[in-house]
Amino acid sequence: MSERAKVLVKEPIADAGVDLLRERFEVEVGTDWDAGELAGRIADFDGILIRSVTKLDAGLIERAQRLRVIGRAGTGIDNVDVEAATKRGIVVANAPEANSIAAAEHTLALMLALCRNVPQAHGSLAGGAWERSSFKGAELYGKTLGVLGFGRIGQLVAQRAIGFDMSVVGYDKFVTAERFRELGVEGVESPEELYSRADFISLHLPKTPETVGIIDAAAIAAMRPGVRIVNCARGELIDLDALGDGLEGGRVAGAALDVFPEEPFTSHPILRRSDVVATPHLGASTEEAQDRAGIVTAEQVTAALSGGVVTTAVNIAAVRPEVMEALAPFVPLCEKLGALAQGLGDGAVGRVEVEFRGRLADADTRILGIAVLAGILKGHTEEAVNLVNAPHLAEQRGIELTETRESSSEDFTELVVVRVHSGDGAVEVAGTGAGPRNAPHLVRVWGDDFFLPFADHLAIFRYADQPGMIGRVGTIFGEEGVNIVSAAVGAETEGDTAVITLTTDNPVNQSTIDRILELDGFAVGRAVSI
Ligand code: NAD
Ligand code: MLT
Repeated sequence: MSERAKVLVKEPIADAGVDLLRERFEVEVGTDWDAGELAGRIADFDGILIRSVTKLDAGLIERAQRLRVIGRAGTGIDNVDVEAATKRGIVVANAPEANSIAAAEHTLALMLALCRNVPQAHGSLAGGAWERSSFKGAELYGKTLGVLGFGRIGQLVAQRAIGFDMSVVGYDKFVTAERFRELGVEGVESPEELYSRADFISLHLPKTPETVGIIDAAAIAAMRPGVRIVNCARGELIDLDALGDGLEGGRVAGAALDVFPEEPFTSHPILRRSDVVATPHLGASTEEAQDRAGIVTAEQVTAALSGGVVTTAVNIAAVRPEVMEALAPFVPLCEKLGALAQGLGDGAVGRVEVEFRGRLADADTRILGIAVLAGILKGHTEEAVNLVNAPHLAEQRGIELTETRESSSEDFTELVVVRVHSGDGAVEVAGTGAGPRNAPHLVRVWGDDFFLPFADHLAIFRYADQPGMIGRVGTIFGEEGVNIVSAAVGAETEGDTAVITLTTDNPVNQSTIDRILELDGFAVGRAVSI
């Protein structure tokens, strides 16, 4: 029996997620491991599940020689060096929607708590005081909320704020005016416009080089006097010194913070201010969100380790999950076509053309183009090649991929044509999926048409089209102990030559091919294992 893959659950996730992993893998729960233990043992694992505390930097990823998948049970992946993982072919998958509602509700909770001094009043009362006059608050009703970052959580916050009769303005570099309108929100052209309009500003941006420190002294100076700022996204978005100055100077009336530049974050003076409400990164901490995140992440890790479709991978071409599901059966076909075309060519691969015909022409086929590249590169690089790192490895080698689409396809519902340019020439092969599972079939090679199921080992010959030639191949294969699984002669032989493609149980040695090529009438022969 083959060894079960090993998965490390490094941060607490829902029991249901751990149970799911235990069905298929050897699971170790290392939630109490310190950084040293993680560094010492990460090399033992094929998969790891984390939340936001574990920092998987390039150094740790380098040590993780067996690692094939990083599952991030939550949204932000800023604690993972995705580039380092991608270069190593490690899938990084998150649970992007699992905690959006929790984070949006927490944002509203913070906003209300800030306006009505809930924590301060609670602390006072718990301390034995009955101070009604000290805690006069402000209403959300009729105020303008500025949502910076109108993605999943920003949109949910806007919808809830509208429920409180707030007007909402939003800024997002990548959201259309129409989407803003659909949700009853006014999209504005710049953060500055949002600052000049909003009584409350809620941040829902990811942490990127562009967004770090977006709320700095200049931004605060552009805001309305008395603005209240809520951050339930990432701590690094706010320059805390500038916020402290804004609060001190009175331009900012209050701030509610769930996230901080370094976490844990316990001793900063801003936490002691009466105009600040803070929680220790609790945005996602609901039972429901943790259950969802744990289960989704466990499912993604399971898929990555068992050859399934990782629908939330952040470093595989961004294809929508439903498209990914539909295209998944064609991934092996494209890999095989790439490997075959490469194996039939001579010299370094330069350009790769992939033509998607028939129904595939309407699909977002980026993942299939990458699969062709993976097939071309497999077995020819130091590191294992997969759909994650194939584009990077191809780029490093100067391999250029172009894709074309054509909805007509004479004989097949879906047809993939791969043309690999290497040396002075180009090799063209084509294939399709057949049967209920779209099993990969080869339909064209060296200009001749076939219909035979792909196998791991193929031998292809061009020979003079005369009686007895196929028998001779069979005889020599028999003498060399090569078992032929299937064979097909090209259907559209032009001139006086023909092409035969054979699939075999085992790789065909070059010496076997050479023996056949010494026979009269055999012009070209190649063995390819894919
Ligand atoms: P998302 O990707 O759905 O939305 C982010 C939006 O920001 C996108 O629409 C994007 O177009 C926009 N954006 C990116 N860069 C921009 C820029 N420079 N200018 C303007 N707009 C830009 O993400 P999400 O799921 O809504 O998460 C939002 C944030 O909340 C993330 O930082 C995430 O890590 C954080 N988060 C925090 C908690 C928590 O516990 N506090 C929980 C979940 C998510
Ligand atoms: C997230 O990005 O999902 C949040 O920060 C919550 C978390 O990881 O716990």
